[in-house]
Amino acid sequence: MAGQTRPVWDFEDIGDWWTRADASKIAPNVAVPTTAGTGSEVGRAGVLTNSETHVKKIIFHPQVLPSVVICDPELTVGMPKAITAGTGMDAFAHCLEAYSSPFYHPMSQGIALEGLRLVKEYLPRAYQNGSDLEARAQMMSAAAMGAVAFQKGLGAIHAVSHPVGAIYNTHHGTTNAVVMPAVLKMNRPEIEDRINAAAAYLGIAGGFDGFFDFVMDLRAELGIPERLGEMGVGTDRIDEMVAMALEDPSAGGNPVKLTVANTKALFEACI
Ligand SMILES: [Fe+2]
Repeated sequence: MAGQTRPVWDFEDIGDWWTRADASKIAPNVAVPTTAGTGSEVGRAGVLTNSETHVKKIIFHPQVLPSVVICDPELTVGMPKAITAGTGMDAFAHCLEAYSSPFYHPMSQGIALEGLRLVKEYLPRAYQNGSDLEARAQMMSAAAMGAVAFQKGLGAIHAVSHPVGAIYNTHHGTTNAVVMPAVLKMNRPEIEDRINAAAAYLGIAGGFDGFFDFVMDLRAELGIPERLGEMGVGTDRIDEMVAMALEDPSAGGNPVKLTVANTKALFEACI
């Protein structure tokens, strides 16, 4: 933003708004991640919360893509347990939603599947022992892979998580982990075959049900709250959150089309 004259909100990821930016004034971007989850180091966008409207906006420009990325797992060793868990589950959510999205992108499909495996193998280790450099390094890879994969689309996990985070200031990845089981249940009719295949690759017995149980166990192992209610989220602003979720750019990638009715039911189940 240093060389721009327009407000940052003019560069929201809508149509060709990015062409409003003066590209010649965008400085080179060197990304040095200190968490393993978001994957912004391989992205062309940033998410900013407007502190007046409490709405999260995606700010996009092709030159936001870092020209240099330094992924050094030693920089994540000091991450507290709760942030390790939450950011790691964000990477898992990126891989899961990209893998489940109905859009055609076979390369992202493969990257998402391997990303799921890396999180399954290494997030519990990184959580248990923050100094486990192999686990930290594999989680950095999983985070970058998740963000590459979600070019294929995100879904209801993120569409629900964004308004919750904007209004209640909850941790993004942790919120994703909380809402994940309810979204899996809702999407089951559309994703069951796909999740059966993922479960087989991940070495999880029992197809969709086995995968669902694995997610529940992983959440418990990482100390993730069971419901949004435990994070201070109430039902009093649910209609507002439903409207925001339906407007969210992630909503379009959900395998089941989001409606007012099914999105409200989803929020109720999560809270
Ligand atoms: Fe995310």
